Amino acid sequence: MAKQKNRQKTVKLSVRALAAQLLFLVLEQGKSLSTLIPEQQSKIKPQDLPLLQEICFGVCRVLPRLDSIIAMLLDNPLKGKKRIVHCLLLVGLYQLLYLRVPAHAAVDEVVKGTESLNVGAFKNLVNAVLRRFLREKTGILAKVDQNWHTLHPDWFINRLKKYYSNWREIIEANNQKPPMWLRINQNYSNSEHYIQLLEQVGVKGIAEGRQSVRLSQPSSVENLPHFTEGWVTVQDLHAQWAASLLEPQNDELILDACAAPGGKTTHLLELAPKGKVVALDIEQNRLVRVNQNLQRLQQTALVIQGDATNPTSWLNQVTDFLGESAVQFDKILLDAPCSATGIIRRHPDIKWLRRDQDIEELVQLQKQILTTLWSLLKEGGVLLYATCSVLQEENHQQISAFLQSQSDAILEPLLFPLQENMLGYQFFPTENSGDGFYYAKLRKRVK
Ligand SMILES: C[S@@+](CC[C@H](N)C(=O)[O-])C[C@H]1O[C@@H](n2cnc3c(N)ncnc32)[C@H](O)[C@@H]1O
Repeated sequence: MAKQKNRQKTVKLSVRALAAQLLFLVLEQGKSLSTLIPEQQSKIKPQDLPLLQEICFGVCRVLPRLDSIIAMLLDNPLKGKKRIVHCLLLVGLYQLLYLRVPAHAAVDEVVKGTESLNVGAFKNLVNAVLRRFLREKTGILAKVDQNWHTLHPDWFINRLKKYYSNWREIIEANNQKPPMWLRINQNYSNSEHYIQLLEQVGVKGIAEGRQSVRLSQPSSVENLPHFTEGWVTVQDLHAQWAASLLEPQNDELILDACAAPGGKTTHLLELAPKGKVVALDIEQNRLVRVNQNLQRLQQTALVIQGDATNPTSWLNQVTDFLGESAVQFDKILLDAPCSATGIIRRHPDIKWLRRDQDIEELVQLQKQILTTLWSLLKEGGVLLYATCSVLQEENHQQISAFLQSQSDAILEPLLFPLQENMLGYQFFPTENSGDGFYYAKLRKRVK
């Protein structure tokens, strides 16, 4: 019996079955694809990874449409443990609708997945549902698509409608696949020069300013010239504003308060290679990535695991490092934990992981971090508040409340045009451009 159990555990799953299993973990257990997919990397063939990603991200992108089709084809919904069968059907339908794979081979692969996922009893049902879909596709889609699908949860749509007349544009942008953006390290190259290097390896890039390049097709980092030597970092266009807006200087002490995985830490050090940068994050395992990124870019920062709401637990590491009895920071980057609703097109599982009630909790955490860090900022110093959210509670409203509560906080103008009823600047996700990001630059008044 024990042997049999072990044998079941070690059954190697096909890409389709694995995709169904990961989707089950996302949709039923609230796990994130950003954690799950990297865990599979050592377990599957490298050439299978793009298909696994395409199916998992793709299903999350269009989930309500696929769910409606399944609801039309089943008499009773698959509940409880049978949800894995539902996930197999999602994978099957996604392939039939969105991937250029021969239909019958795709169905066969998914049907085989029932055995490897220990739901062989549902083999005939999966086969019947997918084949019926193939036969009746036109009629089924006509019914399913008679109304516009937002493909987003209602709570999110309701929040967007409250503050943005262009909410449909945000939704449409979220439903697209995101472009891949590179940040070129100005110490080695620039965008015009780097697109020539890309051309030599058959990758087409489009320059945006001196610093940024958009790839016409996503590429693996191994293909990017001088990636291992730190010439280039994968980072969204609008995320690239964080370090530039903070304007780090070489002699400054700078706190990157929520630093992992370090995309903005390394940018700060590219702009101010002699700046004293402290990279703090609450999650030890995420700090591994910060260290890897610093190493790749040959940069040095003081990397600390700690809670930004409780500086007494980690500030002594900064004072010890500097050999001083007390410290205050010249600049602070607070890239706050947030709903991540600005990067839905990059992480479509966020739509199904985040819940309406999470937002208030996040707002309270952001407020606590912001207020705590403010006391660590020098007079005359600057704190840049950033989120990858499009929700005003986390952005404009958060900053508005902060300015009302802190008489020594001044909101600095940014380089962007003013937006109506908006403190700070809200970027929205846009085709061929960046993701949804928010920035507010706060200076501490000199008494
Ligand atoms: C938006 S991510 C940061 C992304 C990072 N700045 C970058 O550009 O690569 C937010 C980070 O905040 C961290 N975090 C959440 N709560 C925190 C806290 N109380 N103190 C410090 N870090 C925290 C999370 O672990 C997460 O890594």
